[in-house]
Amino acid sequence: MKSFYITTAIDYANGSPHLGHAYEKVLTDVIARFRRQMGDRVHFLTGTDEHGQKVQASARARDIPPQQYCDAVAAEFQAMLPKLGITNDDFIRTTEERHKRVVCRLLQQLFDQGEIYRAEYQGFYSTRQEQFLQNKDRNPDGTWPEIFGEVTEITESNYFFRLRKYQDWLIEFLTQNENFVFPRYRQTQVLEFLKEPLNDLCISRPRERLEWGIPLPFDGQFVTYVWFDALVNYYSAVVDRPGLWPASYHVIGKDILVPPHAVYWPIMLRAAGIPLPAGIIVHGWWTQRGSKMSKSTGNALNPLELVDQFGADAFRYFLIREMNVGQDSDFTADQFLVRYNSELANNFGNLVNRTLNMTTRFAGGVLPAAAGSEEPERELHALWARTAPECVALCEGFQFHTAIERTMAFVTATNAYIEKRAPWKLGKSADPQERARLHTSLATMAEALRLAVALLQHVTPASSAKINAVLGYSPGPIWRDELVWSNRLDGAKVAEALVLFPRPAAAKPA
Ligand code: ME8
Ligand code: MG
Repeated sequence: MKSFYITTAIDYANGSPHLGHAYEKVLTDVIARFRRQMGDRVHFLTGTDEHGQKVQASARARDIPPQQYCDAVAAEFQAMLPKLGITNDDFIRTTEERHKRVVCRLLQQLFDQGEIYRAEYQGFYSTRQEQFLQNKDRNPDGTWPEIFGEVTEITESNYFFRLRKYQDWLIEFLTQNENFVFPRYRQTQVLEFLKEPLNDLCISRPRERLEWGIPLPFDGQFVTYVWFDALVNYYSAVVDRPGLWPASYHVIGKDILVPPHAVYWPIMLRAAGIPLPAGIIVHGWWTQRGSKMSKSTGNALNPLELVDQFGADAFRYFLIREMNVGQDSDFTADQFLVRYNSELANNFGNLVNRTLNMTTRFAGGVLPAAAGSEEPERELHALWARTAPECVALCEGFQFHTAIERTMAFVTATNAYIEKRAPWKLGKSADPQERARLHTSLATMAEALRLAVALLQHVTPASSAKINAVLGYSPGPIWRDELVWSNRLDGAKVAEALVLFPRPAAAKPA
């Protein structure tokens, strides 16, 4: 079995999770579930980033010790996961011993190798992004871009990691590995960034400035710069699990690609002689009226309110259907309701209702076998024969939004097929040919539903399981086999009804 190790970014433990964090978990979960279906041995890691200035400041503002504060925030992030249907195998916290040990080992190794040296640092620091800045990071008018929040000037003695030394290697590596960053236009941005000479990376903060961090193993007067600590989580979580490293993918947002994930991390690994991950998947931002949803700006949506109101599957469906991985999406309650009503309740829900209802009314609740096929069936079979392989390929390329669109087009076509066959008319006839058509139409709509459910199951796992259950069906072990048009529902006893996506009359999300 091929091992597939996938990670999310680890979230700063400085506030409650918002929609952007939830999205990243859901996207990674959809990829993880899809790969499991494809037969890979998946390991899925997520967690919290608990050290640094930002977390220390949030704890101080509440007047509680940072560890206690982190425990509460980490618990909140952990509690969110099952509510979103997330199937992570592990959750790492950077304050755990297993992590700190590996960070120290790596720092000591790099120090011993001469990759780390001490020097004066003079420059600027963004606490919001936990990032050292230079004058070249300023806007043309001299101000700092909004994403950095408040920027302070610092002058301190510090330790530096020799990034510059590896710049040419990294450019060569990215040139040789065109698909290291997905989507590819993000890789172009990394190469663009690398056109300027790199500065060595300041990897420490004096203890009098920052208490809340991992002490440098070779100089206890300093703690480790939070990014040097945080990135190591992907590795520290699996050092004791053979066969998982290197990771298949790190899933992250576009704000933390350059420089942390695409520059610091590959160079840290290279310098330490550790193999690089196979790739980085970069998603865009959820915005509200065009500006990034974030804890710091206070325009964050609580994902759990939507989940409580509409269910985890509807929430997952919307996020994955709406966002093209890599690009931004604006979140509006209206758009959520439009997709919920038209795609889930009306289109998909309607196919479920009709299948159960008509099988109950016209066949005593037992699915008949199809009695041959005519033009309407052949058209639907042909559409399925194109849809299934197309959707698998789209999912393999992380184009989940388009795969869902194609699947929903198949559901629409199935509903149109039902209109054309009008089983409610066939059901009134005693003519044997019309009876045969009735049976064929019931078998066809049920099979089409089963197939659509299989194609959506990594996005809407709970609904898929419920639909299979009301169809009296339990899927086999090999997912690809489930995608073949078949007669495996013949004789299945179906339930009378299932309310999956209730219409929320006047309800509005959050
Ligand atoms: O950056 N839309 O943590 P974080 C989509 N601790 N994604 C968003 C988002 C939005 N509006 N807002 C945030 C950190 N994210 C570091 C990561 S990894 C070794 C350390 C995404 O809590 C963001 O892009 O600020 C990132 O991938 C993740 O949420 C955590 O953000
Ligand atoms: Mg952030």
